[in-house]
Amino acid sequence: MESHTFDYLVIGSGIAGLMSALHLSRLGRVAVLTKREAFESNTNYAQGGIACVMTDEDTIDRHVADTLDAGAGLCDEAVVRQILAEGPATIAELIHTGIRFSVRSDAEGGGYDLGREGGHTKRRVLHAGDLTGREIQVSLLRAVAAQPNIEVMEHCMVIDLITTSWLGLDDENRCVGAYVLCRQTRKIMTVRAPFIVLATGGGGKTYLYTSNPDVATADGLALSWRAGVAIRNMEFIQFHPTCLFHPKAKSFLISEAIRGEGAELVNAAGEPFMQRYDRRGSLAPRDIVARAIDNEMKSTGQACLYLDIRHKQPDFVHGRFPNISRTCKGFGIDIAHDLIPVVPAAHYFCGGVSAGVDGHTTIPGFYVIGEAACTGLHGANRLASNSLLEGAVCARLMARSVAAMGTPDARPDIRIPRWQSHGAVPSDEEIVVEHNWNEVRQCMWDYVGIVRTNRRLERAARRIQNLRQEIREYYHDYLVTGDILELRNIAAVAALIIRSAQSRKESRGLHYTLDYPETSPVAHDTVIADPAGEKV
Ligand code: SIN
Repeated sequence: MESHTFDYLVIGSGIAGLMSALHLSRLGRVAVLTKREAFESNTNYAQGGIACVMTDEDTIDRHVADTLDAGAGLCDEAVVRQILAEGPATIAELIHTGIRFSVRSDAEGGGYDLGREGGHTKRRVLHAGDLTGREIQVSLLRAVAAQPNIEVMEHCMVIDLITTSWLGLDDENRCVGAYVLCRQTRKIMTVRAPFIVLATGGGGKTYLYTSNPDVATADGLALSWRAGVAIRNMEFIQFHPTCLFHPKAKSFLISEAIRGEGAELVNAAGEPFMQRYDRRGSLAPRDIVARAIDNEMKSTGQACLYLDIRHKQPDFVHGRFPNISRTCKGFGIDIAHDLIPVVPAAHYFCGGVSAGVDGHTTIPGFYVIGEAACTGLHGANRLASNSLLEGAVCARLMARSVAAMGTPDARPDIRIPRWQSHGAVPSDEEIVVEHNWNEVRQCMWDYVGIVRTNRRLERAARRIQNLRQEIREYYHDYLVTGDILELRNIAAVAALIIRSAQSRKESRGLHYTLDYPETSPVAHDTVIADPAGEKV
């Protein structure tokens, strides 16, 4: 069996993974594993931008206050302050790697063109038109390619992490490597490293409708759980209020930045409705806007609602949102002249693997960064555009902590057994994977969505449990493929979301249940820490 050894193993190639790799490459040899092409990440699709205090009219205190307000009492204030205070230095570093954010002309006053999104009391969102993520992704990949110490291994998907406790060793539990499926050759190899940074992003694909790309299957969360790492606050799934509603528009987001530039949410008659729900109207935090849209749709029977930016100059609208404008045009919608049909869709996991601001977890040497992590920044509802910043800041902090630990010891004395297929054969029942894939996602959408009840959660728990049993059998009987690994991961994470939602007996932020509509006076985290997790 093929085996590779590095000083540092980074899993994932979005902003958190690539920034981690760039920092760690100053300390030793780094592998970046990514399950498809390296540019395929949630980062690549981010439209709005990256929030940071950039002007004298804004302050870190204000950004902290907005973040705490959106987080509905569940943010860790010290974490929020530390991450946001590191923002300006981190942005300077991103700019240094070659990222170009949009600027204003001299006539407009010069400087960076800062956008605004829901819940922000100031303009503080750096963006690159409405293709911010792509600009970040391309620039970071270019910087990574220039580093001889970094090897990017594409189409390599982690099956499971290998820990000393799983190997049955008595030492302190550590992660020593991973079993990895090469999707092109279908061969399984081991990648060993004394330090592992997991930056695999979120899992919007757990839900039927999502703004996320196909790669967002919560792999890192499922891997960590199976390795026995504690998971926190999984009930807080952020639904983005405005994804394009069109039969052919798969996952296309209409950035909140469009509301920041004056677009209003309206019904089919063109009437604004958000003021009935919140004094901040269309720019209220996302949990409130998504719930309001859900309520409008359910109470009036409308299939979607609309964004209206027709009162702005067409040149401004098309120039500020070239990607949204072009994509909508492809579906016959001129965003400057037509109402834009929108619906909510799963967008961001505020919970994740319980991690410190430097990504450290309950397993020494195993770090989790970015959307896969739950640091305490987002609390019960993430403030828009705080997440790219979190990924970049935490990567810096992680590298600082890792550097302080000295030279990595690859522990060549530890023998990692070959991958065992235990008589598994190639599948002749791929249809089962597709069927279960659809069923998990439909079930989560129907019963564990924006508005929850005890009964819906119980129903979901039963169905997901049955599906997981089938998936377990399939996983044991047939040779592993990328598809079964992704299915196994979304189903495991679906179970974690349901379990977390069932244990929260209140409504807070993104978790809203008709059975407990009040918010408890004392906020607490939901932590799931099954020792050694579950193997499938
Ligand atoms: C958006 O552009 O609306 C998404 C920004 C975010 O989720 O932070």
